[in-house]
Amino acid sequence: MTSNRRTFAIISHPDAGKTTLTEKLLLQGGAIHLAGQVKARGDARRARSDWMKIEQQRGISVTSSVMTFEKDGITFNLLDTPGHEDFSEDTYRTLTAVDSAIMVIDAAKGIEPQTRKLFEVCRLRSVPIMTFVNKVDREGRDPFETLDEVADALALDVSPQMWPIGMGGLFEGLLDFRTGLVARPEGASKEFLGKRETDAAIPERYAEEIELAQAGYPEFDLEAYRNGDLTPVYFGSALKNFGVEELITAIADFAPPPRPQPAGEELIGTDHGEVTGFIFKVQANMDPNHRDRIAFMRQVSGTFKRGMKLTPSGLGKPIAVHSPILFFAQDREIADTAEPGDIIGIPNHGTLRVGDTLSETNKVRFTGLPNFAPEILRRVQLKDPTKTKQLRKALDDLSEEGVIQVFYPLIGGSSIVGVVGQLQLDVLVSRLSAEYKVEANLEASPFATARWLKGSDAAKDAFEKFNQGNIAHDRDGDLVFMAKSSWDVGYQQEKNPELTFSATKER
Ligand code: G4P
Repeated sequence: MTSNRRTFAIISHPDAGKTTLTEKLLLQGGAIHLAGQVKARGDARRARSDWMKIEQQRGISVTSSVMTFEKDGITFNLLDTPGHEDFSEDTYRTLTAVDSAIMVIDAAKGIEPQTRKLFEVCRLRSVPIMTFVNKVDREGRDPFETLDEVADALALDVSPQMWPIGMGGLFEGLLDFRTGLVARPEGASKEFLGKRETDAAIPERYAEEIELAQAGYPEFDLEAYRNGDLTPVYFGSALKNFGVEELITAIADFAPPPRPQPAGEELIGTDHGEVTGFIFKVQANMDPNHRDRIAFMRQVSGTFKRGMKLTPSGLGKPIAVHSPILFFAQDREIADTAEPGDIIGIPNHGTLRVGDTLSETNKVRFTGLPNFAPEILRRVQLKDPTKTKQLRKALDDLSEEGVIQVFYPLIGGSSIVGVVGQLQLDVLVSRLSAEYKVEANLEASPFATARWLKGSDAAKDAFEKFNQGNIAHDRDGDLVFMAKSSWDVGYQQEKNPELTFSATKER
């Protein structure tokens, strides 16, 4: 059976037009009826909790969400990835839950730092990528320049699927190579309102360009795209609605259906005989007075039915999933059934953790959802020392959610938190205060990074004995080497070849 699910994310540098494109995709899918709602909903949501004030202040989005819409019999699950570089951990994990990605590039700016970073994550996992060169209604770079930059910077074959007839003030329309139709700007707003011409007259200079573009780049090759070696390139304007419908059609026709997922040596396909999935994100309830959370499960196999009992790998005993949530853009809807590729929100009180596998038989363990070695480590100093217990609870909760990582040193009382970006620390302090009534300072720690130790128990014990001042346990009780510098890591690795100093940890 071929699946009608397309589960994907949009990756981009802030301001390239991700929000606008998301909105237009949802409009096309009939999921929302007025443009502007994605932002409006975002603002309403942000107002709800204290720590999200940071988002408002900084004008960035730090939480990711899921939006589902349907068109022509295909169900699209769009996973929003936070665009800010500080939240890379969360973003990495979200990208483990998609089957493909749309890379949005500003036609005037080309590849920007965050685009490149996110692209690298996709490449690590061989996630196929379609490119959308946005804002052709504005003055931009020469399209050839953009294509060549994508090819060079990302070492990818590029295959243009459309071409802008002029740009900015000279923009006259968009030619779709596949259909030969030209979409034209109309009215005062110069938007695309649905008018497409066959055999459109194209001014000479653009006709030449188009010939060059079609002859000078590889043809679209489905296999090369799905292997992550080639990116089809769509031009358009999210704001003026150009190229959006073509993009949706391309996702429906070419983007891969749910992929098999690695579980150790095995690959679990959609037809594996039971319901399985993994948690890639946990989000605290927006209401700070209630401690419940939503765990986001990417379904891998089977047909899920409401009320079904699934066993989380971290818990060992089954839970009944009575009120799962599917994420339609208008509202959250209670799901009755879900298929591989779907994302299900499971309300819980802290039992579900990022990286957990859920299954009926408890026999599968998905792998590949790593924790990353923190790049910033801070000592947590309580302002009121009687709040030790509350602090521990808060740090455990927040590390379960993936907001921070926490390390408990063997020697010395205070906990150490680790993050990959500064913004995570601001979120931590703000949530400690708002949700746990714990006031804390984050102080410099002597450590620069951390490595998980792997090896025989004897080797680990011996190492621990001689390096007590540099040893901590993480939330799961696993042994961690706290390094004063990356040189330190290399030195210890050389001295202790029987141990592995790992920069990632997979649960
Ligand atoms: P992001 O989520 O990637 O950060 O980008 P977003 O969609 O918010 O777009 C950033 C800015 O670029 C917005 O303008 C948006 O209107 C504009 N934009 C997006 N797509 C296009 C396009 O195809 N053509 C043109 N000309 N502009 C586009 P803003 O003024 O910063 O925000 P707003 O006040 O208009 O919402």
